[in-house]
Amino acid sequence: MSAAFGPLSLESPAPGLAVYQPRRGYRWGVEVYALVGFALGIGAPAPVAFPPRVLELGAGSGIVSLLLASRGCRVRGWERDAEWVALARRSLRRSPAARGRVRFSVRDVRVGGGAAADVVVTNPPWFDPGAGPSSPDPRKASARTMLHGTVDEFVAIGLAAAPRVCVVTRVERLAGLRLDNAHVARRAWLPGAGVGVVEVRRGAGQAVEEALDLPTIYAQLRYQPGTM
Ligand SMILES: C[S@@+](CC[C@H](N)C(=O)[O-])C[C@H]1O[C@@H](n2cnc3c(N)ncnc32)[C@H](O)[C@@H]1O
Repeated sequence: MSAAFGPLSLESPAPGLAVYQPRRGYRWGVEVYALVGFALGIGAPAPVAFPPRVLELGAGSGIVSLLLASRGCRVRGWERDAEWVALARRSLRRSPAARGRVRFSVRDVRVGGGAAADVVVTNPPWFDPGAGPSSPDPRKASARTMLHGTVDEFVAIGLAAAPRVCVVTRVERLAGLRLDNAHVARRAWLPGAGVGVVEVRRGAGQAVEEALDLPTIYAQLRYQPGTM
């Protein structure tokens, strides 16, 4: 139980990790495994350099940062909502596989500055505030609707910190992505979901289309679907 979130569930998304999330409200989905696997290049057609230093923008429960730390990355997770950060820190204390490699901070990503990383990962809010009703749960609304920054802003802020930004997004949002002196270098879609992961890199270049190999990602992260 948590005063801010109500009843919690405790999940083990990989060995040595125990992550709290609210039973009702914003909960993670398959896209967090897609993001982590894609950023690490698990199952990718061409080798992807291991990123020793990672910055996560909009860390929420901390699941993405904790998974990356369990793979050996040193991770900073920024999140504007202090209650999410408190929950993520609580999970970190229960997660020996990530201990000593993650720092969660209460920080609005739009403040920017002071970060350098090999890769930025983010699963930002992507719905337009005007496009339909947003969730009555303010925390869920902030997670899904672009109330405190757009996908374009998250990507631009990421590119100021790292040469590679891996971002979860929707097909229609990708089509409208405004990139300044940067390009989509890799992209992969989740089957049937209209959601995918793209890697944006500084400078000019061509996009490579990839298939997300979820079974291989699950196997390497040692997650067993159906156990959460
Ligand atoms: C879609 S959720 C993703 C949470 C988590 N990374 C995951 O994948 O499950 C987006 C998160 O971004 C946070 N967020 C939104 N705007 C932000 C901002 N300007 N600065 C920092 N965090 C922000 C929200 O509070 C929310 O936790």
